[in-house]
Amino acid sequence: MSINVDQIKNDIMAATSVADVEELRVSLLGKKGQLTLAMKELSGLDPEARKEAGKQLNEQKQEVAVAIDSKKAELELIEMNAQLEKDKIDLTLPVNQGKKSGTLHPITRAMMELSAIFANMGFEMAEGPDVEDDWHNFTALNIPEWHPARDMRDSFFIEGAETILRTETSAVQVRKMEKDGAPVRIFCPGRVYRVDLDATHAPIFHQCEGLVIGDSVTMAHLIGTLQSFLKSFFEVEQAPIRMRQHHFPFTEPSIEIDVDLGNGKWMEVLGAGMVNPKVLENCGVDSSKYQGFAFGMGIDRLAMLKYGIKDLRKMSDGDVRWLRHYGYAPVEMPSKTEGLS
Ligand code: DAH
Repeated sequence: MSINVDQIKNDIMAATSVADVEELRVSLLGKKGQLTLAMKELSGLDPEARKEAGKQLNEQKQEVAVAIDSKKAELELIEMNAQLEKDKIDLTLPVNQGKKSGTLHPITRAMMELSAIFANMGFEMAEGPDVEDDWHNFTALNIPEWHPARDMRDSFFIEGAETILRTETSAVQVRKMEKDGAPVRIFCPGRVYRVDLDATHAPIFHQCEGLVIGDSVTMAHLIGTLQSFLKSFFEVEQAPIRMRQHHFPFTEPSIEIDVDLGNGKWMEVLGAGMVNPKVLENCGVDSSKYQGFAFGMGIDRLAMLKYGIKDLRKMSDGDVRWLRHYGYAPVEMPSKTEGLS
């Protein structure tokens, strides 16, 4: 079989895609390719002639292989450039050109805002598990056996009385003190669960716990911290709040804070107080040396007030129209210096 290398090279040069070149390679150098078969035919020749023809054929194969490789490289580059051209993204275009895509849920947004405020005040963020045990959720917090929170009608128990979906982020206080002792200055945003449902109560809602323990922390620090937080959160000169005396097993004395709704009504947004020395001792902190304050605020309620949301239940309906209306663009990060809303 005679091989016309020039013709072959012309064919290779004429190829217009990497796939074409590959097809040619198979038809020339593949198992049943033209040159491979010619090589096999040499076995029929006598040794002298075979040597001569073999040498020539090897050189031709070499030449063809080089031509294929260089054509392939050339076409690969062209195809890659075409692809890059096609995939080009104009980074200078505005995001969401007119169309609004995903938004941040107002609760996520409120959590980001309050995290920015507490971080700015020097608080560290702490987290704990959603599935808690009796000790961290109740016993260590000085919640007695007979307390209504321990009732099945108020709390979600899992597999008996020992495991529970946490009813309050206060459980994180216990974990933090057990692990790191005192002093402490933390905030802990997270999900909590209770058997409850109406316009201002949901079975799953969000709280932000705060805990500050030191050797000279007082009630005045608590009130100052909360007023300063509420002023920043609502972006007002004077926080429109009132304080009421209250009772919590884990604080002594205890208060509740309501926010003025402007229509003669108030909405309770947080509970707080000086940490009960029994809780400190339960968590391994020396109550003769340390004291401090704690608070637990309802994030959903703060978000309702700030963003003008009337019904808490809408928060978890998953209605896209609602989310578009109340959602926030994910690119706008709240910060104390750049502004919160
Ligand atoms: N755990 C309380 C609740 O869920 C809120 C609370 C009140 C938290 C007083 C505290 C606190 O840390 O000191 O209603």
